[in-house]
Amino acid sequence: MNSPVMQGLNLNAPSYVKNARLIAWVADMVALCKPDTVYWCDGSQEEYDRLCQKLVDAGTFTKLDPIKRPNSFLACSDPSDVARVEDRTFICSEKKEEAGPTNNWMAPAEMRATLQPLFDGCMKGRTMYVVPFSMGPLGSPIAHIGIELSDSAYVAVNMRIMTRMGKAVYDVLGVNGEFVPCLHTVGAPLEKGQADVKWPCNTTKYIVHYPETREIWSYGSGYGGNALLGKKCFALRIASTMGRDEGWLAEHMLILGVTNPEGRKYHVAAAFPSACGKTNFAMLIPPKGFDGWKVTTIGDDIAWIKPGADGKLYAINPEAGYFGVAPGTNTVTNPNCMASLDKNVIFTNVALTDDGDVWWENMGPAPAHAIDWQGKDWTPEIARETGAKAAHPNARVTVAATNNPALDPAWDDPAGVPIDAFIFGGRRSTTVPLVTEGRNWVEGVYMAATMGSETTAAITGQVGVVRRDPFAMIAFAGYNMSDYFQHWLQLGRKLAASGATLPRIFTTNWFRKGEDGKFIWPGYGENMRVLKWMIDRIEGKATGTDHLFGVSPTYEEMNWTGVDFSAEQFASVTSIDKAAWQKELQLHTELFQLLEHHLPAELGETKAKIEQRLAA
Ligand code: OXD
Ligand code: MN
Repeated sequence: MNSPVMQGLNLNAPSYVKNARLIAWVADMVALCKPDTVYWCDGSQEEYDRLCQKLVDAGTFTKLDPIKRPNSFLACSDPSDVARVEDRTFICSEKKEEAGPTNNWMAPAEMRATLQPLFDGCMKGRTMYVVPFSMGPLGSPIAHIGIELSDSAYVAVNMRIMTRMGKAVYDVLGVNGEFVPCLHTVGAPLEKGQADVKWPCNTTKYIVHYPETREIWSYGSGYGGNALLGKKCFALRIASTMGRDEGWLAEHMLILGVTNPEGRKYHVAAAFPSACGKTNFAMLIPPKGFDGWKVTTIGDDIAWIKPGADGKLYAINPEAGYFGVAPGTNTVTNPNCMASLDKNVIFTNVALTDDGDVWWENMGPAPAHAIDWQGKDWTPEIARETGAKAAHPNARVTVAATNNPALDPAWDDPAGVPIDAFIFGGRRSTTVPLVTEGRNWVEGVYMAATMGSETTAAITGQVGVVRRDPFAMIAFAGYNMSDYFQHWLQLGRKLAASGATLPRIFTTNWFRKGEDGKFIWPGYGENMRVLKWMIDRIEGKATGTDHLFGVSPTYEEMNWTGVDFSAEQFASVTSIDKAAWQKELQLHTELFQLLEHHLPAELGETKAKIEQRLAA
């Protein structure tokens, strides 16, 4: 192949880029994608402002009112490009069993042959942005570097918020350092003279991972996890395989710090499926009755966790910003999130108000008129008549972690924070109690492995269907789910053998509904009551009651100050219905049949014990 330089294309690599493998890869990708120009991002404020202005000029961004939302923008995507596309997401390991039955798989050679003609010339008429980023604090022993090549300026500016992006990454990378190559195109080349559209994308989409060679190739979408490749593609799918190989964990978990009135601080990592109030939990403000308690955010979506020399598990947030779901976020569900949206925000697919601000469903009082995310007039009357949504249900905000008033002082600590407890929480309107602690590591892993959840708008497809979502990782494990369970069990064994105290494992469900179809639990802010019970368990202050698959609180040992929640209501969110659990266990059986290959024996044994208790 002719090198791009030989073809007359200048790579324009800055002199501080010294990594030979990187330069060779960029040259190859330029030769393949054939962009008009190559631009190396330095991550500066000046560059961010310039690219945002370019997006305004292109019609992709609308600048919001500078007094109401300083330095903030609204982007509205093509209506066909609004969420992660799980059915177009592939794990291309050499062997199908390596990807397992829960991932789409294609042999790497076949996938490469499929992608070759799609990527050939895919960036014609566009700029290729070279985006250097660190997942995790720069230089942290837990962090890793990625380089994303993208033909989207929207991606470049979002990556600057979501990751540690910029020139300093090259100092860590040096001449020989390792990086994960991430290639992204919207798949919309421009012929000479062809006018661009506001949100270029392609109806053909491929989100492809090669775990063995640690590469990501993304085609056809400009949205969220499909395009911001540091997030789901790298920090979860590729990183989970790195973790399996190297003895650490890459998890779909928020990380929070919780400090009690006595000043003792604990760290909790919690996995919830997409759009189940993860950001709300990560930014929790203790309600009335919790004087002296403090919750601080380390991360809202992803945790990288490594065993330390002392046998404890240390976690970092590999991201530097939040890509949170907007609809439903308000000063009641998440005051800290609302406060963090005051300035320097990119909004995607929310409505534009007549005074140059944004609005989404349940943000607060509806405006009399707005332009909805699809550019149409929206009024409360239109909404009543047609059901039209002002914001897309998966509309997002992109905001730097440093905007968060509850940011933990250790959020950027390269050493990470020691984890005291894991939480796994699904969205279930029935069956699963408010909170349960596994009696041991294996029981906790069992509950996480069999977790089910009703689907949300964060992915394309049907909403509200229960699907099994082991560890909230169904869409994000880069390898066979049964091997992933084994990895968790092995880590537990290893830590226990070293004499370490293992983190506690809890499962939660905030979403039980009453016969009237309404949520029984009074709201996200009240989750502090459950968190406190967990801390009481760790401190040996709460006994709880034993049941089929673990230990749940008694009404009396929960703090109810400041909320009206009766023992009857509590019973309706914690009760265990035997018939419902018989059905639930049948679904566990189906899951285990699907995951039969390499399924750890401990999980089948744990299930048998639960069945015995159920039959007793
Ligand atoms: C997310 C998701 O965007 O899980 O975090 O979908
Ligand atoms: Mn997520």
